[in-house]
Amino acid sequence: MKLRESGMPEEAYWETLLDVPLILDRLGIDARLRNVIELGCGYGTFAIPVAKRISGTLTTFDIDEGMIERTRQRAAAAGVCNLVGEVRDVFAEGLGGDAETNDACLLFNILHCEEPVRLLAEAARVVRPGGAVLVIHWRYDSATPRGPSMDIRPKPESIVAWARQTGLLEAEAPQIDLPPWHYGLRFVRLNPAGDPRNASR
Ligand SMILES: C[S@@+](CC[C@H](N)C(=O)[O-])C[C@H]1O[C@@H](n2cnc3c(N)ncnc32)[C@H](O)[C@@H]1O
Repeated sequence: MKLRESGMPEEAYWETLLDVPLILDRLGIDARLRNVIELGCGYGTFAIPVAKRISGTLTTFDIDEGMIERTRQRAAAAGVCNLVGEVRDVFAEGLGGDAETNDACLLFNILHCEEPVRLLAEAARVVRPGGAVLVIHWRYDSATPRGPSMDIRPKPESIVAWARQTGLLEAEAPQIDLPPWHYGLRFVRLNPAGDPRNASR
């Protein structure tokens, strides 16, 4: 199922709305990260620059075949070889792969979806303990030039509360300002409660 209000405007316009290098810098996306997974690549706006920065593979999923095709094209044109794009309904099928195998999972402009706690739990599942779930979203402000309707647009404190409900994620710092129109949140992946690895913490 396509997540609600997850359609995109035209590519060139979309990319005027985001300062991608600033966002990746402030979220700490660099070569210390090996494998990273992304839900919803869209036009590859983040997928391509993230793949260029990390030291492993960026795996990205989108329900829309056209978005995966466009992202693959852009990766090829940029000489990016460490990006795997796959058509997948993540809401229905999850992120696949083995648990705890990624350093980070990216949920960018997606958490206005129907079941955010379930998606956050799935993101946490595929990230290793000590890794990160990284979120960006439109500011909770009706003056932004785009973004989901205000009645479904999440406030940062709602996302922090949903993440806590997974029992696997802890907010690392207060929200990160990502001008002009976004904020970011970093969550650290915890060991599950009762996990014997907690004894050594
Ligand atoms: C608002 S766009 C954000 C794209 C990208 N993360 C960005 O910030 O540039 C949301 C993307 O999620 C994709 N999407 C929606 N529902 C999905 C689902 N169930 N599984 C995978 N992708 C989905 C849409 O096709 C769209 O490309």
